[in-house]
Amino acid sequence: MKIDIISIFPRLFEPFLSESVLGKAGSRGLVNIKVTDLRPFAEDKHNTTDDTPYGGGGGMVMRPAPLVKAVENLKNGGRPRVILTTPQGKLFNQKLAQEFAQAEQLIIICGRYRGVDERVRQLVVTDSVSIGDYVLGGGELPAMMITEAVVRLIPGVVGNEDCIRADSFTSGLLEYPNYTRPEEFMGLSVPTVLTSGNHAEVGRWRRRESLLRTRTLRPDLFEKIELTKEDRKLLES
Ligand code: ADE
Repeated sequence: MKIDIISIFPRLFEPFLSESVLGKAGSRGLVNIKVTDLRPFAEDKHNTTDDTPYGGGGGMVMRPAPLVKAVENLKNGGRPRVILTTPQGKLFNQKLAQEFAQAEQLIIICGRYRGVDERVRQLVVTDSVSIGDYVLGGGELPAMMITEAVVRLIPGVVGNEDCIRADSFTSGLLEYPNYTRPEEFMGLSVPTVLTSGNHAEVGRWRRRESLLRTRTLRPDLFEKIELTKEDRKLLES
């Protein structure tokens, strides 16, 4: 899989892409992530990538030509998903991450200032994506979040595939609570079922905790899941 990120601040991505999960995925050849500086695609000698908005009002708007040129330049030939990070996009979630993980190539445009000229959306963008209902200074952090959520789903990137299956949202539920050593910490003990060695009981306990957590913290998600008979029994117990 190839992920191309277009930004006017390419250096923001350096440590993010060289450390941890993404660094390893890159060096093992499981994904090829490249950050492209937008400025060289500007047409004037000052490398301007933004301008004032038609119709007035404050702030600056990213000009269409450098962005369209950069996207066309990066296309591998196939049909990439071209993602624009913007607060006016579709809310990013695990389902969208799974969908993006199927693509051969993602091209992520990091918006800045008041956003990008609308014609960029019309001409090259396939997906406008928001990471939440709040406004950031630019799309670099959203691009990193999308990249990390997608790369984790590429087979082989996360060592233990069970982790992906247990992730919050993969099943539509929040993940159950996790514990590690020591068994007792500041007066708080690990639930005894987890040290019982009874895998079926552990499974039931985890499912019940996931259901309870989701019902309390995310009633919006809870409403959408279809409870099995066993789930109902667990909730009543
Ligand atoms: N750029 C600024 N705010 C954003 C958000 N919430 N999501 C995606 N891109 C953004």
